Amino acid sequence: MINIAVFASGNGSNFQAIVEENINVCVVICNNKDAYVVERARALNIPCHVISSESEIILVLKNYVIDLIVLAGYMKILSPNFINWYPNKIVNIHPSLLPNYKGMNALKKAYDNNEKTVGVTVHYVDEYVDNGVIIAQEELNVNDLTFEQLEEEIHKIEHKLYPRVIKTIVKEWLDEKSTNISK
Ligand code: GRF
Repeated sequence: MINIAVFASGNGSNFQAIVEENINVCVVICNNKDAYVVERARALNIPCHVISSESEIILVLKNYVIDLIVLAGYMKILSPNFINWYPNKIVNIHPSLLPNYKGMNALKKAYDNNEKTVGVTVHYVDEYVDNGVIIAQEELNVNDLTFEQLEEEIHKIEHKLYPRVIKTIVKEWLDEKSTNISK
């Protein structure tokens, strides 16, 4: 079993999509007590810790014996020190075709720039914002969609892509573990 923690600060629709795909989310870490993700976690019966300090977060992660950290709309930058605690074990989803449009309001910026193609990226997290090795990307043609329609389509892509990528990572790790055991 691979134990997963989801870090989120807002709505939590990606968190919910991941849980609905039967991925083993053991705990949610949230840095905003008013975030809707707190409600979603309660409804889904998944423990949610509203905390901000990294030393507190590390204690919680140790308690749940977390193997993989999934950032899903987590609006706080993790320190290099924290990231070093979990090398190659933190993933993020970002609503742009990275390396284009890093940072906040990525989709709006791409839309306002009249990009013909936008998209979603899942990547490993390193010490820089929206950086790190790209795991998967999916493109979407803007055509004559309004910004609101585009946002909705991007969310639909995210809700399919993120669970799929996480399942692949989990499978790879489990396969690796069983190969090591049988050696
Ligand atoms: C998503 O668009 C994700 O790409 C970005 O933050 C948003 C989170 O949405 N990193 P939600 O909280 O999962 O609904």
